[in-house]
Amino acid sequence: MTDTDTTTAGDTTAPVAFPQDRTCPYHPPAGYDPLRAARPLARITLFDGRPAWLVTGHAAARRLLADRRLSTDRTRDGFPATSARLAAVRDRRTALLGVDDPEHRLQRRMVLPEFTLKRAAALRPRIQRIVDERLDAMITQGPPAELVTAFALPVPSMVICALLGVPYADHDFFEEQSRLLLRGPRPADTQEARGRLEAYLGGLIDRKRAAPGEGLLDDLVRHRTGEDAVDREDLVALAVILLVAGHETTANMISLGTYTLLRNPRRLTELREDPSLLPGAVEELMRVLSIADGLLRMATEDIEVDGQTIRAGDGVVFSTSVINRDESVYPDPDVLDWHRPARHHVAFGFGIHQCLGQNLARAEMEIALRTLFDRLPSLRLAVPAQEVPFKPGDTIQGMLELPVAW
Ligand code: HEM
Repeated sequence: MTDTDTTTAGDTTAPVAFPQDRTCPYHPPAGYDPLRAARPLARITLFDGRPAWLVTGHAAARRLLADRRLSTDRTRDGFPATSARLAAVRDRRTALLGVDDPEHRLQRRMVLPEFTLKRAAALRPRIQRIVDERLDAMITQGPPAELVTAFALPVPSMVICALLGVPYADHDFFEEQSRLLLRGPRPADTQEARGRLEAYLGGLIDRKRAAPGEGLLDDLVRHRTGEDAVDREDLVALAVILLVAGHETTANMISLGTYTLLRNPRRLTELREDPSLLPGAVEELMRVLSIADGLLRMATEDIEVDGQTIRAGDGVVFSTSVINRDESVYPDPDVLDWHRPARHHVAFGFGIHQCLGQNLARAEMEIALRTLFDRLPSLRLAVPAQEVPFKPGDTIQGMLELPVAW
């Protein structure tokens, strides 16, 4: 049987290696082509040789992401991992993303009020100020500039610090730990970085208990006393995920989104001519870039999916990049099109674990991209596009560096 024979849906004979590195940072790896032809489910081999299911069809993905028979509890024996790095921290307590209901519901309810659409709208003036200040500093110093360190990373980092009540003065430390956590060269780096982040945030929480100030972490220690009190370890785990997820992901969307717009000048011109397209463009960029590619679950019971059976104990991975290019939902899925209704993409996940920070992330992306291109109409890459380094396939996708001039 040849490779092409294996592309039919339901064929379980030739699993594809997952994840793989992208060749173009805004397209799925060419190695995923067989997966795009195998919907709604395909077989994959993970980094450790373990087989797993890959969900590739849009309708099945939304159904399965809402299915309580798929657990997200990483401490379960046999829970899948897409890298040695992730496998190394499997035994650590992960708040929200690592817990199932009913515990998950309680944790989510505690933090949800800070992440509503209304809260994100109220934060817009503050986000705008941060964006303006970062651009003032970059313009004073440049050109050229390295956009990740000058802009894409500090903007969401400053926003999440203000929201949580974490001192931005410590950003070099926690950004470096997040980097090691998400893409350190050795699995031990992940464990150690996680330990250092827990120690740092634990210390911060203890100081807040003694003298609460302003921020979500302060509110959690201040208002939750007696029976309602949150266990210190739970609070630390919550702080870790909010701080890490709150800056790394959005930073990658800003850097990769900028690169994608610079590589698609006609689309950029359309946006400049009609700024009302921006919210739709952000959704379309989310769909096409699918930076969190490989959401992890484990089946706790047998689940039938279109004639195939996911067995209890099987690992199930969701490839957002493949799902978001399901041609039955998005005609010409590889084409960037601000006019298409991209809203039902799964780049923020779906179901009970759907991204808590999505309203905030949307506000940040809109303000950052609009202001960047408004203030620097001649923005361009400072090196040939092929030389701009981007992240490997086994972590959140984005640019490692983005040298720009104007
Ligand atoms: C554009 C930027 C972002 C992207 C692409 C993104 C993507 C995602 C995805 C795909 C999930 C679901 C994971 C799964 O089901 O396995 C998720 C969950 C989550 N995200 Fe985001 N995210 C972004 C920004 C943010 C921000 C700004 C925060 C702020 C704190 C945040 C916090 C979280 C949390 C706490 C969860 C877990 C929610 C739960 O389990 O209930 N994210 N994100």
